[in-house]
Amino acid sequence: MSFLYQELADELKAEIVNGHYLSGDRLPGIRRMSIHRNLSIATVLAAYRQLQDHGYLETRPKSGFFIRARADIKTIKQSDSNKQAQPCAVEGQEMVMAMAKAASDPRVIKLGSAIPASAFLPLRGIEKSLAKAIRTQRRLASYEMPAGAPELRQQLARRMAETGAMVTPDNILITNGCQEALTLALRATTKPGDIVAIESPTFYGVLQVIESLGLKALEIPTHPTEGIAADALQVALENWPVKACVIVPNFSNPLGYVMSDYRKKAILKLLKSKQVPLIEDDSFGDLGFNGPRPSSFLGLDDTADVLYCSGFAKTIAPDLRVGWLTSNHRQSKLEFLKFTTNLACPSVTQLAVAYFLESGKYDRHLRQVKGEYERALNRTQQLLEEFFPDEIRVSKPQGGYVLWLELPEHIDAVMLAGQALDKAISIAPGPIFSPTGKFRNCLRISFASAWEAEFRTAMKALGSLITRANRSRSASVA
Ligand SMILES: Cc1ncc(COP(=O)(O)O)c(C=O)c1O
Repeated sequence: MSFLYQELADELKAEIVNGHYLSGDRLPGIRRMSIHRNLSIATVLAAYRQLQDHGYLETRPKSGFFIRARADIKTIKQSDSNKQAQPCAVEGQEMVMAMAKAASDPRVIKLGSAIPASAFLPLRGIEKSLAKAIRTQRRLASYEMPAGAPELRQQLARRMAETGAMVTPDNILITNGCQEALTLALRATTKPGDIVAIESPTFYGVLQVIESLGLKALEIPTHPTEGIAADALQVALENWPVKACVIVPNFSNPLGYVMSDYRKKAILKLLKSKQVPLIEDDSFGDLGFNGPRPSSFLGLDDTADVLYCSGFAKTIAPDLRVGWLTSNHRQSKLEFLKFTTNLACPSVTQLAVAYFLESGKYDRHLRQVKGEYERALNRTQQLLEEFFPDEIRVSKPQGGYVLWLELPEHIDAVMLAGQALDKAISIAPGPIFSPTGKFRNCLRISFASAWEAEFRTAMKALGSLITRANRSRSASVA
């Protein structure tokens, strides 16, 4: 026989686990809940007390019952402040392509790729905009100009204002995703053999560009909540002829941090004093869970040499391949590089994005999806608590949808990635985020998974693999 209070407790617990309530949310008061559910006050109180005993709720004096923050997850510690890094050639990015190919098998559950499940993307809306672009545009018989469709550049110039940057449509170059923007930005600022300062860990796409252009990477320690270390960057700039610096400042991939304006300004000042251009990758900037949209470096100082790169792969659809690049000082060179590389991007996809932005659907989508990502993060943290050993440390992203995990030092994430793939689960092992193979015991997972049983199963299986690897060392030490 089940008691009424138990039924209510179970129902509320399911809602908490499913992310209907977020940490810090207030539950309806006891009297309100009793009227709403037609239950006695004693029944509601018993249910709330049970959830409190089980760690789901906490009381605050005179305020009521609140969802407890899942504080048991340990946050990652600061990465070592290695100020004496050496520039190095980047090799071995084929491994990333091999991993991406292996993970492309539809049977594989993709925890390793930073691509949202389709449930998080506004696919119907963008499909309608694509249909409209095909119906209305008459440009298939000619080439788009290198800078891109004026309609999209106009929309983007407006959106850039939200990052604080006053940009005209003429200063925007449409690219084949953010990846091409990064490539053109590095080509515009460096020549083969030059040194580029990068975050450590960094988004591996940056390493791919550095490798393909024959550049050298200089790793700068990056704090898991504050971003690239200004003191270490300063030492690097004093010791090496750095020609560009690449930073993902907002909801970074892979650490998830957002840099404060204060820190951004300090970095800008430093780079400006050494005349080093900053390549800013703001791919995740629109995906903060709360608060105002963070500013861009470009928006904080329009006299600084910033090349701002972004794209819609994370927010609308990766396959559109629509990105952009804007800079105050190098636009004609960038346009020429685009022209000599592949002329221009197709106009159909550009117009579709322009219509989508203009209609307000993009903003509506963002308002909705940001909460969904935060709920997905909460649920993922609960799974980490449930299935992963206590020793792991986890990043605290404030936006986006990737988590960085630090495992006990003896666990090899590359080996783990192979074992996980045997179980049809992909993960992104730490060393692919470093040109020198650092972060051997770290990995990145994406929590932008449709909340299906298979995600839970995959997390359980991954947790068991890590628990086993952890135990085998403990046993051999004992
Ligand atoms: C930080 C970051 N920049 C750039 C890209 C590449 O974006 P796009 O697909 O727009 O080329 C990615 C994709 O994962 C990313 O995570």
